[in-house]
Amino acid sequence: MDKKELFSNIIDKIKALSESSHDRGFVLQAVCRLLKNNLPGCDWVGFYLVDDATKRELVLGPYAGEPTEHIRIPFGKGICGQAAEVRQTFIIDDVSKETNYLSCSAKVRSEIVVPIFKAGRLVGELDIDSHTPGAFTDEDDRFLKEICGAVSHLL
Ligand code: SME
Repeated sequence: MDKKELFSNIIDKIKALSESSHDRGFVLQAVCRLLKNNLPGCDWVGFYLVDDATKRELVLGPYAGEPTEHIRIPFGKGICGQAAEVRQTFIIDDVSKETNYLSCSAKVRSEIVVPIFKAGRLVGELDIDSHTPGAFTDEDDRFLKEICGAVSHLL
């Protein structure tokens, strides 16, 4: 199966899942597992949600992979916080070169963070870590944006 076919299969599953249930935790958890188990190079997949109270912090939501100490991330801090601040995808080929980076595991080599919007408002992010350097491309960004669009109504 080529990457386009793989992406399209995953998108179909996620769309069906997000239409079948309004249980946010259940759907987001299932998305994490689906991506981690099917996308090559995905070693940690998780959602960070914008804190409703402060609107200036991200709070860890459902994830698949090893537990992380980064439960709350202020806007501007780390890759996730920077992506929230500028409301844009960050693709990091080599995390060891980053000065504003929050490490979850010494094994992680590259990362992608995709913001999630609902009616133009930033509501969360999809964060994926890889043990392989340079694991993520613009094609992955486009694919992950589609996934974020399919689940944003639940956030
Ligand atoms: N590396 C992220 C922190 C979250 S962990 O990857 C789970 C960052 O720098 O914001």
